[in-house]
Amino acid sequence: MTSTPAFDLVVRNAQATTASDTFDCDIGVRDGRIVQLGMKLAAGAREIDAAGRTVTPGGVDAHCHLDQPMPAPLRMADDFDTGTRSAACGGTTTVIPFAAQQKGQSLRAAVEDYRARAAGKAHIDYAFHLIVSDPTPTVLNEELPALIREGFTSFKIYMTYDDMKLDDGQILDVLAVAREHGAMAMIHAENADCIGWLTRRLEAAGRTAPRFHAHARPMLVEREATHRAIALAELVDVPILIVHVSGREAVEQIRWARAHGLNVFAETCPQYLFLTAEDLGIDDSYQGAKCVCSPPPRDKANQQVIWDGLNDGLFTVFSSDHAPFRYDAPEGKKPGGEEVAFRHIPNGIPGIETRMALLWSEGVLAGRMTPHRFVELTATGPAKAYGLHPRKGTIAIGADADLVIWDEREFVLKNEMLHHDVDYTPYEGMRLKAWPGVTLARGEVMWDGAAFTGRTGHGRFLPCGTPTLLSGRRG
Ligand code: URP
Ligand code: ZN
Ligand code: ZN
Repeated sequence: MTSTPAFDLVVRNAQATTASDTFDCDIGVRDGRIVQLGMKLAAGAREIDAAGRTVTPGGVDAHCHLDQPMPAPLRMADDFDTGTRSAACGGTTTVIPFAAQQKGQSLRAAVEDYRARAAGKAHIDYAFHLIVSDPTPTVLNEELPALIREGFTSFKIYMTYDDMKLDDGQILDVLAVAREHGAMAMIHAENADCIGWLTRRLEAAGRTAPRFHAHARPMLVEREATHRAIALAELVDVPILIVHVSGREAVEQIRWARAHGLNVFAETCPQYLFLTAEDLGIDDSYQGAKCVCSPPPRDKANQQVIWDGLNDGLFTVFSSDHAPFRYDAPEGKKPGGEEVAFRHIPNGIPGIETRMALLWSEGVLAGRMTPHRFVELTATGPAKAYGLHPRKGTIAIGADADLVIWDEREFVLKNEMLHHDVDYTPYEGMRLKAWPGVTLARGEVMWDGAAFTGRTGHGRFLPCGTPTLLSGRRG
């Protein structure tokens, strides 16, 4: 007589690493959840031996853009199929992209449209942030409160981009809703008027190559907007999270706010550790368009400031800000097939698959960061910031069996290894020391170290709870 296995899956001999601890154990999985952690667990229907390897929680990429509607002729290269495939192959098991409201559109309609884009396509679990670009009385008084109750508990506010930006009064209105209804407000902090003024002057001088994107968005435009965002949040008395922080001057504003007892959280991204403004070009070559993103990458000294902030607790979240546009494409970095002036190059770079390995390799294995801090930044912190913890972002009984088993091996990164639908990676040619050997999403193998093994439609929509970080708010 054969007995039924005690578990659907057992990951044996794991060196399990969380945001606080490392412990040797077997991980028993049933119905997609971790149900037992211990030594010498009973048999599973499937077994994976992780002997000698670190096992971390699957990554939570809390800032990525997938199939976000764009003005013609632009189109994002990744939808929920290719984007979540790429994420899983890089060790990410949860994504939080953005349901973006267009001006004049109801927020509810934006969410319904975005849910339809994701439905049946995602390989890993997903939640949504909202982008509020038109805070009408209906949005503020009816739609936002109702959507927060339904599990859309975070939203992004832009201080730049003509089609997205809010003025200070509008930002105060939206922050007041976040305070009243318990949502996390994420802020893209760059001063739109300064950028517009600099852009016009650069264009008048014939300086339109991709590298001038960085000249139009110097650090002070980020510093000023970060300071203003903090002041607006202080006025409303609500926590905020500043996204994609690029360097020292913005970091200083956030440290100042913290020193004054304000709940200001922060996110940064790989591009601010591994790219500099020189990647936008040292001459007028159009190749620099590949690295056009906002804020732009800065310099080596600013990279060190970001490393310091990752280690000392300034940053809560390390996201990809994956914003995928093909380089050699009329719907991408060459709109309409042309090499255009920098102001018309779509902003954003791909990185959903490389985020985890870059930080594990160049942070943990290079001795710059503890493995616990890595887990905090890539999984636990984002899950807490957006109301998904403890289901996501940790290795614990009851948590989803979202796991990465790491392989340590040296290799040279090439775009052809990646699973996104973008024709380049900004990190082409980088030497890395590790890559996920296995990615498990709710107990299913998504990536076996050689191939994507996931299943379309495995990913489920996750309604978010109240962000854990909001419980510390003042007032
Ligand atoms: O350049 C960037 N970051 N593009 C994506 C959109 C955004 O602002 O996050
Ligand atoms: Zn942004
Ligand atoms: Zn973004």
